[in-house]
Amino acid sequence: MNPEEARWRELGLWPLWLPRQESALPRQEAPAQAAPELPLDQAGSAVSEDFVATAGWDELQTLVSQCTRCALHETRQQAVFGVGDRQARWMFVGEGPGAEEDQRGEPFVGAAGRLLDQMLRAVGLNRADDVYIANVVKCRPPQNRTPSDTECAACMPYLRRQIALIKPTLIVALGKVAAHALLDTDKTLGALRGKLHHWGDIPVIVTWHPAYLLRNPADKAKTWEDLCRARHLLASPCTPRDGSADTADT
Ligand code: URA
Repeated sequence: MNPEEARWRELGLWPLWLPRQESALPRQEAPAQAAPELPLDQAGSAVSEDFVATAGWDELQTLVSQCTRCALHETRQQAVFGVGDRQARWMFVGEGPGAEEDQRGEPFVGAAGRLLDQMLRAVGLNRADDVYIANVVKCRPPQNRTPSDTECAACMPYLRRQIALIKPTLIVALGKVAAHALLDTDKTLGALRGKLHHWGDIPVIVTWHPAYLLRNPADKAKTWEDLCRARHLLASPCTPRDGSADTADT
């Protein structure tokens, strides 16, 4: 028995269902498929955070698809894992899936997603190349309500692991929920925007969520400024973490 199989067996999670690799798009996972039922661990509950923290991509995707760490799993059609380039320098983090994302298994594919695609294009990016997109919570909150702090906390080990595996050069937090979860703060988005923050050593730029921008198009200009700032940061690898006058850590 190989060590990986032994690890899964110990957790009562063997035989393991693994998603198929997409040969045409090797660096991009396919939208989540409806996964067959897997047994839970011996206690009938979620696996430990330590286990999530060492999971590889396939393990992580399986864990997310089977997750029961919070009540959101009861109403989801499927968990929405994340999409994009696993070696991306840019990582965009949103709040949680909406109705279309819940149905299709891919983040940001509804109206807000279409605006995000436009925002990406505006700075010369697209979701398949050098960009990874994920959410704080992987399951749709009913009626698209804001996920609770408890739900965000329950899901954070997955995002933490995604960030650790990708090792992006820069994270863009889309909206308050993502900013609060990543920066462990409850400051307003207005107070967080325009400053440089960090997740460990990784710079974090905070900007408006595309869904907010659909309701408040006048603020698109500010998001444009934020993305230009992010672009500038990526083009200047020697940007000091704490030396510039217009940046501040939280
Ligand atoms: N809003 C988000 O924050 N994430 C999505 O995937 C879709 C809408």
